[in-house]
Amino acid sequence: MPRYAHIVGWGKYVPDKTLTNNDLAELVDTSEEWILARTGISERRIAGPKESTFTMALRAAQDAVEVANIDPRRLDLIIVSTATPDYPFPATACLVQDALGATRAAAFDLEAGCAGFVYALSIASQMIATGAYEHVLVIGAETLSRVVDWTDRGTCVLFGDGAGAFLLQASDAPGGVLSFVLGSDGSGGQLLIIPAGGSRQPASVDTVSHRLHFVQMRGREVFRFASRIMSKAAREAVRAAKLTTDDIDLFIPHQANLRIILSAAKELGLPRERVFVNVEKYGNTSAASIPIAFCEAIEQERLKPGDHLVLVGFGAGLTWAAAVVKWQVPLPAPPPPRRGRYWRLLRYRWARLRSLLRRLRRRVASWWSRIRREWPSEW
Ligand code: ACO
Repeated sequence: MPRYAHIVGWGKYVPDKTLTNNDLAELVDTSEEWILARTGISERRIAGPKESTFTMALRAAQDAVEVANIDPRRLDLIIVSTATPDYPFPATACLVQDALGATRAAAFDLEAGCAGFVYALSIASQMIATGAYEHVLVIGAETLSRVVDWTDRGTCVLFGDGAGAFLLQASDAPGGVLSFVLGSDGSGGQLLIIPAGGSRQPASVDTVSHRLHFVQMRGREVFRFASRIMSKAAREAVRAAKLTTDDIDLFIPHQANLRIILSAAKELGLPRERVFVNVEKYGNTSAASIPIAFCEAIEQERLKPGDHLVLVGFGAGLTWAAAVVKWQVPLPAPPPPRRGRYWRLLRYRWARLRSLLRRLRRRVASWWSRIRREWPSEW
């Protein structure tokens, strides 16, 4: 019997701090009018000093788990799509796994630029469709403000921070993720790149002084690529789901630039009311942008059971990805019971304590093995 991956939980987190176009005009040679006209962005959110990709991913994940009303110990897999992980390793997904108390879950990070969330969604849906897993948490989270060159007006006006998450559950009922299309073209890798900090150019005084740890982009070329690929990928995913573009009830594209979104929508023949846009509030949050937009579409009650949604992203790599989802959840979703909420809070406290105890146990085990090694054998 075929198994389908349904979205049963969702959550988003954006930092409180807002950076407006006028704020940016005080940092670099730009203006509110230029940014708004060329990108559609009015403001973006910037992570606070205590926030990181992990902390934001965790907040979005906790909301998704709460909406789905599922014990994190039932999660089989956690995928975090990010280009700005807390560390090169360990994976941010492992930090989330530990803090959620998802004791049975496998966890890994996935990097496919701004297309990463849809890449992760496709893996999750396949893990469910094959029968390997029942519950998979997919997160897109980014702290781009830490890798943006705040002296480069061509890039710093575009990006923002945030996180979004889906919880997918196996079901026999047809629906959920119906199709996906993934693609890449590495010949365009240099168009959008952080040149240093990897094995090619490890961090050095030279790389730092040449600002090579920041995003570099050839915007006009990325723009041309994006305008072409968004509608193409969406069309292919719709065809793979055996639908036509007339069947699309809501188009939820990666929120990079309003002009790119509108040109893709025009190419697909979609009227404005069937296109979700929130780029004006958050800018480009890379892998987080589609799940954040999806959560806001739910908040605005733009989805009804039976609707077909198209999610499509493009980004560094170059990469692109599109998926068609049949939405089944009646909205508004009932709030979780109050008692349940306290219970969940207690569970996260316990997850923290459990993590602490495990680290302590590891340290004691290492002391004990050192003592035994150094103990004189005649004793
Ligand atoms: N303020 C004022 N002027 C600016 C700014 C700014 N912030 N940035 C660039 N300009 C100037 C340029 O210097 C240029 O001046 P010049 O003509 O004197 O040389 C002029 O504006 C036009 O520059 P263009 O690059 O041609 O401007 P364009 O209309 O292409 O808009 C933009 C630039 C917004 C970056 C656009 O190219 C774009 O959105 N590209 C796609 C970017 C994108 O989506 N990236 C994310 C990919 S996803 C991921 O994986 C992260």
